[in-house]
Amino acid sequence: MTNPNPGRIRPRRLRASAAMRRLTSETDLHPRRLVLPVFVREGLTEPRPIPSMPGVVQHTLESLKGAVDGAVGAGLGGVMLFAVPEVRDATGTQATSSDGILNRAIAVATAQAAGGLVVQADLCLDEFTDHGHCGVLTPDGRVDNDATLVRYADMALAQAAAGADLVGLSGMMDGQVGVVRDALDGAGYDEVAVLAYAAKYASAFYGPFRDAVESQLQGDRRTYQLDPANRREAAREVAIDVAEGADIVMVKPAMSYLDVLADVAATSPVPVAAYAVSGEYAMLEAAAAAGWIERERAIYESVLSIRRAGADHVLTYHATELAGWLAEESR
Ligand code: PBG
Repeated sequence: MTNPNPGRIRPRRLRASAAMRRLTSETDLHPRRLVLPVFVREGLTEPRPIPSMPGVVQHTLESLKGAVDGAVGAGLGGVMLFAVPEVRDATGTQATSSDGILNRAIAVATAQAAGGLVVQADLCLDEFTDHGHCGVLTPDGRVDNDATLVRYADMALAQAAAGADLVGLSGMMDGQVGVVRDALDGAGYDEVAVLAYAAKYASAFYGPFRDAVESQLQGDRRTYQLDPANRREAAREVAIDVAEGADIVMVKPAMSYLDVLADVAATSPVPVAAYAVSGEYAMLEAAAAAGWIERERAIYESVLSIRRAGADHVLTYHATELAGWLAEESR
């Protein structure tokens, strides 16, 4: 029988051996591309598991040190700190107090990391307000954009004073990047970087995070976070944040927004981050626990896909574990 394939063009040649696949692989994963989000809870004596995020805990200030050591040892690019205060109020006072739990956590993490990675802090009021919104409210209960900016400026100064290398603005208030940049520069913190959650969607995939921070939110965040239907609007938000001085822009969530991520990566003049959020983590863990997907391969593939779509770095709760696998692989 004659060969029916003329055989000149055979893409399978490049897939024929592990060595050939390794040589021609288009996308790299490296620990420096990964950032670990970490939760710290005030008033705990022991780390406390988060039921909807198996394997993730609320840390004490003491156990935070071990998490930072693990992240530095794994070669991660950074840690992103979130904190849960014991007392909440209408304006989120604990966010700007120097002995507020987040600011104390920043100081502990910065000392522990000793320059080995970038210590990043979530700059948003939702963990600190009793109503759970990302800003302060008007008397009739709407999120007051411009009054919130005043709080964000103060919060940035508190985080910078605590030693944060980078502040992550996740509140989606208009003008937040410019106001925070000016506040930092005005106080001599011109080297503190601003990461803007530029394209942050009003997503159901934040569900487990609300457990992790014991959110008291009633309702939703649709008056400030993006509509999941919108793609063009993300480009507008990125352009605004870059013009206001963002050093890094972020797309969030990641897996359901790879089109948005690819758009942003194609045009952004600054590095692009993507956040594989709590619901993405929970889905992977739940399916793996049920035996429906191969855990390690699925985690690897999901983060690789986010990189392939254009993220320079990825925030993922799997960061330290994944970095461990990558180190083994490169041996
Ligand atoms: C707001 C914030 C949220 C997340 C990160 N920063 C929650 C929200 O916007 O409702 C979600 C992260 C995740 O789901 O993993 N401070």
